[in-house]
Amino acid sequence: MDRILITGALGQLGVEFIKYFKKYNLFVLATDVRNPKKKLNCTFENADVLDKNRIDSLVKKYDINIIYHLVAILSANGEKNPFNSWKLNMDSFQNIAEIAVENRIKKVFWPSSIAVFGTESKLELVTQNPLMNPSTIYGITKLAGEKLIDYYFKRFGLDIRSLRFPGIISTETQPGGGTTDYIIEMLNAAKKENDYCCFLSENTELPMMFIDDAIESAIKLMSVNRADLSISGSYNVTGFSITPNQLISEIQSNGFKTSVNFKPDFRQQIADSWPKKIDDSVSRNDWGWKPKFRLKESIEIALK
Ligand SMILES: NC(=O)c1ccc[n+]([C@@H]2O[C@H](COP(=O)([O-])OP(=O)(O)OC[C@H]3O[C@@H](n4cnc5c(N)ncnc54)[C@H](O)[C@@H]3O)[C@@H](O)[C@H]2O)c1
Repeated sequence: MDRILITGALGQLGVEFIKYFKKYNLFVLATDVRNPKKKLNCTFENADVLDKNRIDSLVKKYDINIIYHLVAILSANGEKNPFNSWKLNMDSFQNIAEIAVENRIKKVFWPSSIAVFGTESKLELVTQNPLMNPSTIYGITKLAGEKLIDYYFKRFGLDIRSLRFPGIISTETQPGGGTTDYIIEMLNAAKKENDYCCFLSENTELPMMFIDDAIESAIKLMSVNRADLSISGSYNVTGFSITPNQLISEIQSNGFKTSVNFKPDFRQQIADSWPKKIDDSVSRNDWGWKPKFRLKESIEIALK
């Protein structure tokens, strides 16, 4: 029986993973440096993932055999203090890898990001293995993690599985300081009939994924035989691509009024170094990935 530890469990993805696992009555130990604002439907322990001894003792105490390691400082926040971002993203990765090896953890899920790509990655449609020179500290930590996944698998047989998530659209929690946050911010502003000032220019195209697809893709990747996986780093996945202008049209076609002005800031430069579209055919072929939620239904659901 799987007994799952989630780090960064109170973040945008973590709360949705908890909901998913509880539907199937699995044991979940949610951990975070923050405390939950409302009661969680699972065991919770306040724990800093940089405190290796604390995480190790929780793994032993709760007899954990699967880890979803979600803690990270995301792209835009990462640029505010790159040294700190490297420390949190990499030291936490190393702590989890060591704990996983020492405790014979069956599998670890660790999300990478489209931030691993850069302007030389042929951004119109980014394939699985293009040239990768990320422009942000966040992207550099994600690329380093991808390399370590491959290394630790060959060196220790450690089974870490990973997806390069695009921007994730969800409504339960606030986004955590990434470059695709505008989409949730604009949707929330439309629902509250507030004006919105968009930090990206109107025609900036980026790949996105609806939260249910993000969770499903991770669960599916974690469930297949390792022997079926041809990639031992991180897989491309995507739902659809969208620009702020297209989002405005979708919001309006759902009957909401929008008042948006554009004031691109430092995040525009990050977005300009990221893919417009993602080719996820290797995921489709290797482990049967197929998104369920396309642009129109994702926005329609997010506006409810
Ligand atoms: N949300 C997206 O659009 C997106 C896209 C691509 C990849 N990802 C990846 O998915 C993962 C989860 O992202 P998210 O959006 O849920 O992030 P988030 O910022 O919403 O949540 C991160 C959580 O980690 C917690 N945390 C921070 N420092 C900690 C520490 N030292 N110890 C323990 N907990 C700590 C925070 O309190 C927060 O609850 C990250 O690895 C991120 O890089 C997310």
